Amino acid sequence: MAAKITNKGGIWIMQTRLIGIVLIVGLIATLLCSCTPLGATPSYPPASIAASTATASSITSAESQTPAVTDAPLPYQDASLPVEARVKDLLGRMTLDEKAGQMIQAERGSASPAAVTKAALGSVLSGGGSTPGDGGPEAWLDMTQAYQQAAMKCRLPIPLLYGVDAVHGHNNAVEAVLFPHNIALGAANSPELMKQMGVAVAEEMIATGIPWTFAPCLAVAQDPRWGRTYESFSSDPALVTSLALPYADGLLAGGAIPTAKHYVADGGAIWGTSKAIGYHIDQGDAAIDEQTLRHTHLAPYLAMIKAGVPVVMVSFSSWNGVKLHEQKYLLTDVLKGELGFQGFVISDYNGIEQLAYGTLAEKVAAAVNAGVDMLMETGLYAMALKAIVSGVNNGMIPQARVDDAVSRILRVKFEMGLFEDPFLQKRKAGGFGTDEHKVLAAELVARSLVLLKNDGILPFKAGQKVFVTGPAADDLGAQCGGWSLSWQGWTSDNRKTGGTTILAGLKLAAARAGAEILTDSADLEKADVVLLIIGEKPYAEGVGDSPDMSLTGKLALDGNVPALELAKSSEKPVVALVVAGREMVISDELKSWNAAVMAWLPGTEGQGVAPALFGERGFTGKLPMPWYRTVEDIGKQEAEPLFPIGYGLEQK
Ligand code: BGC
Repeated sequence: MAAKITNKGGIWIMQTRLIGIVLIVGLIATLLCSCTPLGATPSYPPASIAASTATASSITSAESQTPAVTDAPLPYQDASLPVEARVKDLLGRMTLDEKAGQMIQAERGSASPAAVTKAALGSVLSGGGSTPGDGGPEAWLDMTQAYQQAAMKCRLPIPLLYGVDAVHGHNNAVEAVLFPHNIALGAANSPELMKQMGVAVAEEMIATGIPWTFAPCLAVAQDPRWGRTYESFSSDPALVTSLALPYADGLLAGGAIPTAKHYVADGGAIWGTSKAIGYHIDQGDAAIDEQTLRHTHLAPYLAMIKAGVPVVMVSFSSWNGVKLHEQKYLLTDVLKGELGFQGFVISDYNGIEQLAYGTLAEKVAAAVNAGVDMLMETGLYAMALKAIVSGVNNGMIPQARVDDAVSRILRVKFEMGLFEDPFLQKRKAGGFGTDEHKVLAAELVARSLVLLKNDGILPFKAGQKVFVTGPAADDLGAQCGGWSLSWQGWTSDNRKTGGTTILAGLKLAAARAGAEILTDSADLEKADVVLLIIGEKPYAEGVGDSPDMSLTGKLALDGNVPALELAKSSEKPVVALVVAGREMVISDELKSWNAAVMAWLPGTEGQGVAPALFGERGFTGKLPMPWYRTVEDIGKQEAEPLFPIGYGLEQK
């Protein structure tokens, strides 16, 4: 892990990233709402568990407990009881330290399993690229089981929630199937397949012992210069909602916990407002009125919360100058009050540390009091835990706020059946990297392709010789983009994980079609048509903020220039395939191309690209955002786009 750059590593650091029968019966009787835990059976934990007779408010440390041993299952262990009764019972047994521990999510690089036992931590994450061992599924499973065993050794064995960014498949795991990024899924626009994808991703996660993903991203991206544009399904909140809902449904059906992120208006930040070093727009300020915030950016959350999404992650960004991490109005009044959100709110990666207060204790108090329930404090987790405890003891944080936060976290753990199945062994056995998942991913790739222009050269025909050139043709990393094996992704080394490059897929399709693929420049002369496959370097978050969206700019793939030149000088018909996380500025080049196709970031299943090019199927993808002619046109209502949102030539 040491040598890896994670959003955890080098770049991030710069940013300062009676419980007696009577009471029990009373409790149950007063409960109005309960949910049936998924897959719940009352077999875990063992019946002879230590029980405290003390009340929550009078106890502040684990050492002050005098455990009593009982043979009868305690109320919180009883899966037949309503969730709210179990939450109340367990909360009543917890010390303040244990409550603070539940509210912490540390990063695996800083908190070992032993640290989880010692501090009774509620959660651990793997940041982007923070992978165990060889990164394969066995290494993941061994690690997550070790963490869960550690949590089960605590005085109160409360299952740990292990979380990852499975944002386009289980993308930190070697040999997982990586699906197209969200922007491509927006172009494909298939709610049915989104549900299937949710189930598939959940299966791959569960196979590695992970119940929780920080997805889907509900960003309604407005400015394609934003490095997170590809994490957004669309600039249209209705499309974001219609895809995020079935996706989250699929995750839940597969036994995994979805997260709606980043609350709220992450996609509404204004260019030039980011204060993060080297960033321009990511983590910036959404300087917009409340009507716009609600209409454009809050809208997908309404539907997701109504559908019962269990977790919401706070955005790094600000709303009119105030960081979301301390926006009590939006986190508490709107989200938990008006929208009735019953799950828990997690901060983003060390996002609390970005608040403008002198000490970590003040930052923690501001965030918790604003409504943050779980603190993603990756390295400073022990200090953050202490800050919660001292905050309650010195009156900076109300005890009731901590009790509410812990109740919310426990509620999700109970509702998701984790107390009955902490090791996820009762979940449906899911496949990892299966052929079925590959077929699904390739189908989504095929549906995401947007035909921008075609003078009749497409589809390629039998007998044709297609000369393929360009840096994105045979590069698994380039076609996967950021959040792939590492936070920032990779290029060139196709051995990092399994998959099929676009070129490999083209060769298969050409063979089926009776056409020929040429790649040796000595063969250029023989070619009937040039297929130019160009695109962007992988990037994630603000690292991808780019003022220059040209095919030859800073974030363009190094080989774009020579490939563009070769295609032009060939004097042959040119078909361009753009492999990028956003709609790049192509106005000039487009004029000289005979056909152009937007392929987005397809992921590991590059074989999904070729069938439409060879006419085995049609092009059906539609742009999920407007395609601007120039960078200057971005966001200008009056500027006519090169292609409007919803554009895409149909070819049967
Ligand atoms: C990102 C989140 C992500 C978190 C955990 C942050 O940098 O903004 O989207 O879930 O890291 O890796």
